[in-house]
Amino acid sequence: GKGIAVFTSGGDSQGMNAAVRAVVRMGIYLGCKVYFIREGYQGMVDGGEYIIEANWSSVSSIIHKGGTIIGSARCKDFREREGRKKAAYNLVERGITNLVVIGGDGSLTGADLFKQEWADLLDELLKDGKITPEQRKKYNHLFIAGLVGSIDNDFCGTDMTIGTDSALHRIIEATDAIVSTAYSHQRTFIMEVMGRHCGYLALVAALTSEADYVFIPEDPAAIDWPDKLCKKLMQERNVGQRLNIIIVAEGAIDRNGHPIMAEDIKKVVVDNLHQDTRITVLGHVQRGGNPSAFDRVLGSRMGAEAVMALMEADENTEPCVISLDGNQAVRLPLMECVKQTKAVAQAMADKEWEKAVQLRGKS
Ligand code: F6P
Repeated sequence: GKGIAVFTSGGDSQGMNAAVRAVVRMGIYLGCKVYFIREGYQGMVDGGEYIIEANWSSVSSIIHKGGTIIGSARCKDFREREGRKKAAYNLVERGITNLVVIGGDGSLTGADLFKQEWADLLDELLKDGKITPEQRKKYNHLFIAGLVGSIDNDFCGTDMTIGTDSALHRIIEATDAIVSTAYSHQRTFIMEVMGRHCGYLALVAALTSEADYVFIPEDPAAIDWPDKLCKKLMQERNVGQRLNIIIVAEGAIDRNGHPIMAEDIKKVVVDNLHQDTRITVLGHVQRGGNPSAFDRVLGSRMGAEAVMALMEADENTEPCVISLDGNQAVRLPLMECVKQTKAVAQAMADKEWEKAVQLRGKS
């Protein structure tokens, strides 16, 4: 059978374990040898005990666990060609020419580069006498399927990334809890949520928790946001509301592109309205805890589809990313999705926010 390796890379997210489990079981079911690569690309570079064969029971009782049981890392060595050469050797030695990479856009870009260099890396390994001519010939092609694991929902091409739904559950549980104490004390709370340069978590959290105000990167606040904010908060208090909730994405900015921090908002509220105001930074709580049913299903479907894609690939098949499109698992060209995701980041950096939102599409 074919050799498949699965690894998780970059920031963890809930549902990654469901994906790992599906890859292992679908792979074994189809007669493949399936390997874990522990600690992301670092494990691929280091080899040895970091690349181990998985069996049916090595993925038992993990679907409900948050994080990733095989570890994840942001790896410097793999960014160097020398690191990628070591990684190629470690894979060839074990007969692995199929990779399922679970991570964000950085991790998926790395995989694509690896694919492009693969034949050259093998030529060098042959020249160095590290691999045999038979190995060189047999393992000529590297096949890659990517799955997007991230709480941020910031990847183009997929409706939802693995982990976003669970992170939202975490956020709204926390917001609901804050609302009750805010009510008792007639307080205003500013909740900072994650998402890097993407406002998806903040926006959906605001909608689903009846927040009074939200700051997101894609719709930068007008320069007179303090006036607008105060007016809105007062309006709510004047009709009898005992509390206010403001959600701020960690990447929130104003029209000049300057960050808007929770502390800035607090100062505005306290100085102008003299409201008893507190800040809650949810932080990594959002990324932890058990995955929701949605993320377990999403990870499972995406993992199984990734193995199917690898099984059907031939030497002309480009790396793909498994995406959710209208509740269907689809295969999209990995590089196009990465390119589009980078174009969004560029548009944001150029302060072309409408363009960024359009480019991002459905996600
Ligand atoms: O990409 C996921 C994410 O949690 C972002 O929302 C956040 O900005 C970042 O990772 C935090 O990174 P780290 O876990 O390295 O502090």
